[in-house]
Amino acid sequence: MAEGPKTSSNPAKRAEHLRAELVRHEHLYYVLDAPEISDQAYDALMNELEQIEARHPELVTPDSPSQRVGGKPAEGFKKVRHSRPMLSLDNAYSAEELADWDHRAHDLAGSLPVEYTAELKLDGLSVALQFVAAEHGGARLAAGVTRGDGQEGEDVTTNIRTIRSVPLAISADKLKKAGLPQAFEVRGEVVMPEEGFLRLNEEREREGLPPAVNPRNAAAGTLRTLEPSIVANRRLVFFAYFLLINGEYFAAGQTATLDALTALGFRVNPHRGRVQTVDDMMKFIADAEKRRATLGYEIDGIVFKVDGHATQLRLGYTGRAPRWAIAYKFTAQSAITQVEGILITVGRSGKLTPTAMLTPVFVGGVTVSRATLHNADFIDRLGLLLGDWVKVERGGDVIPKVAEVVSDADHPRGKKRFEFPTNCPECGNPVVRAEDEVDWRCVNADCPAKLRESLLHFGSRGVMNIEGLGDAAVQQLLERKLVTSVADLYALTEEQLVGLERFAEKSARALLAEIENSKKAGLARLLMGLGIRYVGERTAELLAQEFGSIDAVMAANAQELERVEEVGPRISEAILEFFSRPANRVLVEKLKGAGVVMTAEKRQRTSQLEGLTFVLTGTLPKLTRDEAKQKIEAAGGKVSGSVSKKTSYLVAGEEAGSKLDKAQQLKVPILDEAELLKLLGS
Ligand code: IVH
Repeated sequence: MAEGPKTSSNPAKRAEHLRAELVRHEHLYYVLDAPEISDQAYDALMNELEQIEARHPELVTPDSPSQRVGGKPAEGFKKVRHSRPMLSLDNAYSAEELADWDHRAHDLAGSLPVEYTAELKLDGLSVALQFVAAEHGGARLAAGVTRGDGQEGEDVTTNIRTIRSVPLAISADKLKKAGLPQAFEVRGEVVMPEEGFLRLNEEREREGLPPAVNPRNAAAGTLRTLEPSIVANRRLVFFAYFLLINGEYFAAGQTATLDALTALGFRVNPHRGRVQTVDDMMKFIADAEKRRATLGYEIDGIVFKVDGHATQLRLGYTGRAPRWAIAYKFTAQSAITQVEGILITVGRSGKLTPTAMLTPVFVGGVTVSRATLHNADFIDRLGLLLGDWVKVERGGDVIPKVAEVVSDADHPRGKKRFEFPTNCPECGNPVVRAEDEVDWRCVNADCPAKLRESLLHFGSRGVMNIEGLGDAAVQQLLERKLVTSVADLYALTEEQLVGLERFAEKSARALLAEIENSKKAGLARLLMGLGIRYVGERTAELLAQEFGSIDAVMAANAQELERVEEVGPRISEAILEFFSRPANRVLVEKLKGAGVVMTAEKRQRTSQLEGLTFVLTGTLPKLTRDEAKQKIEAAGGKVSGSVSKKTSYLVAGEEAGSKLDKAQQLKVPILDEAELLKLLGS
């Protein structure tokens, strides 16, 4: 890697160099999947650039890699008309349907050549990226728009910019090599890789939210999130497949389109090919189905497109889809099997979850022997009886599900109704269901299942990260009564561990080292580890930054807790409830005594306006509303849209209207711009 002199006396040159390097590494990492440097080395380059840009704001360029998450939270999304409608595709489900389509294409094409590209049908959502002319003959990303109704979509540019596989700028050189003008449009699919999807759902579960149904919905929801930093965290990926110039498809054909997009630096799905006959198509399909399970993202079929542009034009369009392309859809993979029993498990929060125990059956590349039944209502809705035959599906979802009860001559109905337990299967205490909830819970604080799940949660990756503290180890620790709470982990000795099954001296020492190391996980991880309802990764992080210590969190009242972004009454109540229990306070003290770190660096902020709420009205002499708002927020104040008794100050400019009247009525102090600036100390 050419790093260039770190102490360059010319910050403009150094910034330019760093930007070029960062762009190159992003392309290597996010597009080519072939990084040259470590994440830390990348972060170091980014840090250096951010520092230069902080010292020299005039050097910040809009397409700087530091500006991906630059956008402010959106207030809503503008509607944008597409340069050319974003159509849909006709579907085929069999070789016969593909053959019909192929015949028609040949008929319509006459003497023109008919060849097809084969591409994966990515299960995400399509977006259009508009690039416009930039300085020095290059192009820059101007807008990212969702498909919407096909005619008109939503402007989600700030969110699209956070997707690292989307180049923010393209050099003149690359445009020239690809034979492209400075303005053009790229269309493709935004997907959420499975890893990110599973992580998202773990997080949602920890926060007590229902899981996202599938990666496509999760990606769509993410793109419509108003907070760009959340979008950046979700690691969406963009695969490009169309190039348009002045609203017309790239005239060199589909293979040339994919090649040009690759040359421009877009991520193009590597699983693509060219086919001529239906036999070729079926081979491509079979091959893709084999790879499907290991791709790391969801696909739901194969798209075949006529390659030649002249032939595409000849074939033309129906109302809703091009005649020159078709989607072969994989049929949802399903199988019929029998429900041998229903197992109830008890989670960390005491929630009872029913799981169908199935006669093992092969579906979509994996053997399935159990499937979640979610809750008692779900079992009722299916009308499920023990011994019933059911259809199990693995469709767009990673996790198999019970789709329906099957009943015919070969599949007689089961006989016995499943009685949902009225007592906890682990501790025998009665279970309860809150009025507005679907879940039954065991509320016995000493339920062994809760302790087991709490220990597993405490040690899991992303929480206290204690490798080796898995099912088997936890089970034995509990059986031998070596731990009665997570705090006891820190008192374990080598002798105790060596006595356990499958624990030799070496593994015992390794586990103890992991436990020791976890003391330094930090306040945010610890807050998560305690298992407070709704407190997941992000909330824990924000709480840690705001309060800086567990003592401060424990001492906070609802109002103080709710000052934290994203903490509303539901979460603050859960936190207060948790720390109001003496057992939990004892636990914290024990952990503290064991040397677990319970502090974090508080977020640095100028806080002369902390706790104050401002309302802006009328036209200010110098500042725009946005500027005034930014200044107030930067100083720790809040800006609200309407005057109430809680308003600390009304800032009024020319032609202030009803808000001024209301403030006077409520005796809210009124400031002009000069007074505001004085308050801000500037
Ligand atoms: S081409 C004229 N290529 O499938 C519109 N679409 O069912 C043709 N999709 O809305 C789009 N992978 O969201 C095309 N390789 C691919 C695709 C793909 C996924 C989606 C796209 C489209 C939907 C149609």
